[in-house]
Amino acid sequence: MIDFVEKGNEYLIGNYTRFPISFEKGEGVYLYDKAGKKYLDMLAGIAVNTLGYNHPALTEAICQQAKKVLHVSNLFYIEPQIEVAKLLVENSSGDKVFFSNSGAEANEAAIKLARKYFYDKGQYRYELITFKGGFHGRTMKTLAATANPAYQEGFEPLPEGFKYAEFNNLDSVKEQLTDKTAGVMVEVIQGEGGVNPVDKTFIEELYLFCKQNDLLLIVDEVQTGIGRTGKLFGYQYFDVEPDIITSAKGLGGGVPIGATIAKKEVASALSPGTHGSTFGGNYLATVSALVVLKEVLKEEFLEKVRENGEYLKEKLRKFGYPIKGLGLMVGMELPEEISVKDVVRKALDKGLIVGSAGKNTLRFVPPLIIKKEEIDDGIDILTKILKD
Ligand SMILES: Cc1ncc(COP(=O)(O)O)c(C=O)c1O
Repeated sequence: MIDFVEKGNEYLIGNYTRFPISFEKGEGVYLYDKAGKKYLDMLAGIAVNTLGYNHPALTEAICQQAKKVLHVSNLFYIEPQIEVAKLLVENSSGDKVFFSNSGAEANEAAIKLARKYFYDKGQYRYELITFKGGFHGRTMKTLAATANPAYQEGFEPLPEGFKYAEFNNLDSVKEQLTDKTAGVMVEVIQGEGGVNPVDKTFIEELYLFCKQNDLLLIVDEVQTGIGRTGKLFGYQYFDVEPDIITSAKGLGGGVPIGATIAKKEVASALSPGTHGSTFGGNYLATVSALVVLKEVLKEEFLEKVRENGEYLKEKLRKFGYPIKGLGLMVGMELPEEISVKDVVRKALDKGLIVGSAGKNTLRFVPPLIIKKEEIDDGIDILTKILKD
């Protein structure tokens, strides 16, 4: 067996700070490392593994598809891709879907779509208003959309056309409005930013503001979508109808896929040849997404996510720190004297995987199939750590 830490550091670009752990397999909400140690996973590959590990339907669909065809390109119709698009459309405010491979790509497509939509109308409107504390990806445009200097430093000059407003502050949005504004891009819960939920009044007023000013409302549901918050998309808690919704992370249950879902009048801006992706929506990705969506859309599934999310929040409240989030996207804001990084490391030692977000927030985004007993186990481990 190779020494994965030494060899990893020798051959991999060092853009990640990795824990010295390598996993061998997973089952349900548990992962097992090479030494056989068991971990309760409340991070799910950063809000990706919707159905946990080795979910029978997902594993079976992938194995069966692998025996047939994995990829053919978008020069041909791919039937599971059409089925996934149909489910996304039937269960959102969108009418048409473009598939890619990641959240950044889904957002990149949304940004291009917004520009092209106004270009086709003969209007040179290319600016998007995004929010401080938000996160939209690491490609150059999505980085420019990510109003956080810590991610942007060293990569200037960034593509132009992004204005930053204060989250949950409509006046601040109004201040950024110009005759070049094409739309607003917002998360319903800022995930990377620290699990900060949008205010109901703010997003509903923002929606009306967009309508009044002929702006596109783009909701980045890369992290909040596919049942994470207890609705298929987080915006569905509010009285808003986005023009564009982006999805990725949980959609493929661990297989890379991104989706940009748009209303038809907007979607038509991407005419033949204007945008594309070699891999986007291939057989492997879309048979996986189809299984995930069918599971998540089962009547009791989202209800369980909401119920278990409330259960998790209730259990966390006993620690006495502020608890934020919706469904199974939950943050616990730790006081300055407790380092979230330390808690994450100590949790790993004790066999619990949790994440960090924002300044000092402990982040829980477990597989959506997690059970109450498993939540209890996680809380027990956390109790031991926080007692110390
Ligand atoms: C809200 C949001 N948008 C976009 C992205 C980027 O997704 P990806 O890493 O798949 O490119 C992320 C990733 O964390 C995200 O949380």
